[in-house]
Amino acid sequence: MLILGIETSCDETSAAVVKDYRKVLSNVIHTQIPIHVEYGGVVPEIASRNHLVKISEIVDAALEEAGVSLSDIDAIAVTRGPGLVGAVLVGLNYAKALAYSLKKPLIGVNHLKGHLLSPLLSYPELKAPFMSLVVSGGHTYIALCKDYDDIKILGSTRDDAVGEAYDKVARTLGFEYPGGPKIDAAAKLGDRTKIPFPRTYLEEGSYDFSFSGIKSAVLNYVHNSNQRGQEINSNDVAASFQEAVLEVLVSKSIAASLEYSMKDLVVSGGVAANSRLRELMTAESEKHGIDIYYPEFEYCTDNAAMIAAAGFYVQVSEDGALDMNADPSLGLG
Ligand code: KG4
Ligand code: ZN
Repeated sequence: MLILGIETSCDETSAAVVKDYRKVLSNVIHTQIPIHVEYGGVVPEIASRNHLVKISEIVDAALEEAGVSLSDIDAIAVTRGPGLVGAVLVGLNYAKALAYSLKKPLIGVNHLKGHLLSPLLSYPELKAPFMSLVVSGGHTYIALCKDYDDIKILGSTRDDAVGEAYDKVARTLGFEYPGGPKIDAAAKLGDRTKIPFPRTYLEEGSYDFSFSGIKSAVLNYVHNSNQRGQEINSNDVAASFQEAVLEVLVSKSIAASLEYSMKDLVVSGGVAANSRLRELMTAESEKHGIDIYYPEFEYCTDNAAMIAAAGFYVQVSEDGALDMNADPSLGLG
């Protein structure tokens, strides 16, 4: 069975062909990052327009790379949320038109479920149940994946998503958008013990997160240093900020895995590309006999292969109607 996946929820236009749940035949990604860099973040209207310009070309490229034609495709899976509503609508309407003209089923996929299941593409042997940490530019979740369509949210962010905190701190330090990879690189050159930024654990036993406090703490640190005429070392700030955020992410994910007796912990979303997160996660998980699974880099940030793969686990009758609408704030679970 072949599913064509389409993803346009933020600033990547992507199309992919996935065969039988996990075999990626193509995954074509066009990123708009160079367009949004000059604005310091994604401009929704510009994102929608560029999806519109690129979508046909990207879908054609995905079919060609997979060596299949539209008539070979069994169903079309498309992101229906969460995301920027204008951006989601471009992919959704394109997918609807394809499904209607080809008389093929349309599957609406939750973008977060795509991230959550993305490690399945890299690890064919991985099976539910597992614990999952989803860390992206818009979302931060610890979720128990009991089965592929039975997901229980244990905790989420009460304010900023972790990637958003990275991007905002990066802007304070004068790094270009997207800031996550720049902080990752700068932190390697800095002293992570230099500045004692707060670790926000919230109430005892809570799997929720809050990143607005540390974001303000970094802002205040930079502001106060500037006022005193002291030069700041961006590498030290990046390393100290990142350490404070990652310690909390890692310890809560491990605690959840232990509480629910999950041996497998899956980490996905754009921030899963972070090198220090991987180092800390590996060190902590080894202490507790937990196995960690990360998607390969091309499946960490937004991509259509994860949407097609998740499409295999969505009941078409639930979400397959052509009157399906985009849902910009669709939750997980
Ligand atoms: O999953 P994603 O591509 O888009 C959303 O669905 O949000 O995640 C993008 C986020 C951005 O905030 C970006 O700064 C962050 O992932 N990111 C990173 C790294 N690579 C991307 N954050 C920290 N370290 C990285 N290496
Ligand atoms: Zn995403």
